[in-house]
Amino acid sequence: RPIVTNQLCAKGKLPPDALPPLHCCPPASTSEPVNFTFPDPTEPLRKRRPAHAGGGAEEHMAKYARAVALMKALPSSDPRSFYQQANVHCAYCTGAHRQAGRPDLGVQVHFSWLFYPFHRAYLYFFERIAAKLLWDPGFALPFWVWDVPEGMRIPEVFVDVASPLQDPIREKSHAPPKVADLDFVRGAEKNLTDEQQTLLNLRLMYKQVHSSVVYFTFFSPSTLFAFSSDPDSGVLLFLLLLLFETFIQMVSNAALPSLFLGQPYRAGDPERPGAGSVELAPHNTMHVWTGEKSRPHAENMGVYYSAGRDPIFYPHHANVDRLWECWRGIIDGGGRRGRHAEFADPDWLDSSFLLYDEESRLVRVTVRNVLDAEKLRYAYDDAGVGLPWLGARP
Ligand code: C2O
Repeated sequence: RPIVTNQLCAKGKLPPDALPPLHCCPPASTSEPVNFTFPDPTEPLRKRRPAHAGGGAEEHMAKYARAVALMKALPSSDPRSFYQQANVHCAYCTGAHRQAGRPDLGVQVHFSWLFYPFHRAYLYFFERIAAKLLWDPGFALPFWVWDVPEGMRIPEVFVDVASPLQDPIREKSHAPPKVADLDFVRGAEKNLTDEQQTLLNLRLMYKQVHSSVVYFTFFSPSTLFAFSSDPDSGVLLFLLLLLFETFIQMVSNAALPSLFLGQPYRAGDPERPGAGSVELAPHNTMHVWTGEKSRPHAENMGVYYSAGRDPIFYPHHANVDRLWECWRGIIDGGGRRGRHAEFADPDWLDSSFLLYDEESRLVRVTVRNVLDAEKLRYAYDDAGVGLPWLGARP
């Protein structure tokens, strides 16, 4: 029983002191939703680039700023407007959208296995809308690469008061050059030196991404085989470990994806069954770190209903999406597991969301539709960024 989003959208559960707008349902579609189709495979691959300065980022960020300005200039009734795009997040996190067949139940895309695929689909359409408004078919989102030392600050352009990327409802004491705290807890500033904070951040990244793959670097028979100097006991050890590893692999194929991707969430289930490691931190923590401390819910970024109103939300989520690809890469790099590390459960694959595309058509997109970034015609240009935290075992 996959979670199928219904067109029915009711007023969600917003906190009583929420900042307006208080309704976050999308404009009603005049026609039935169409099923998602993949973009033409000959479309240019959109290369998402880091948002921090250097290597052509200025031009890239200027385009992003122009796209946000164009979206902000559309009437708020237009599903492609910045207003409506920000509301998409609100509608999928406050229970405004209903589940098909269960009008009493909302769809909550956080704290479950819907987290990565939903946000990927959301960014996919956001990026295509931006490209269309810019008349730039190759336009790609920047990503805020807070997991590497050069990117651990809010990129400068976001605090330029003249830029459409600036958001007045954002924590001022965390403006650059303040180094982000990827493990931030509200009300508990760590007051570390930049070096200390950077090191803590790298260790957190190692822990959060590696926790679900560490088995395979640890228990790999070939590595342990090398430890044995006696050839006879070495062979025995090798066979034992091979058996052991086969066993671990069978068990973990079911258990490990949820550590990273989040817990199963099916039609009719109570919402928020459990988040994956990176969703909790740095994803949630960076939301709260970015939001304004003195607001009741750390608006805008620090709470679901308003997070999409800050233009930094989209580069933040591009980085979360990139980490999904990195996690897959680490597993593939082990050489044995490949994409089996993900759920094969049809309840995951057939879950679906309704989102407006760049032609203002309401599209039904399933989890299955968004599993291959290349088929969606985008990629991360992160060769120069690297994964410095892979070596940051605490
Ligand atoms: Cu939908 Cu960053 O949360």
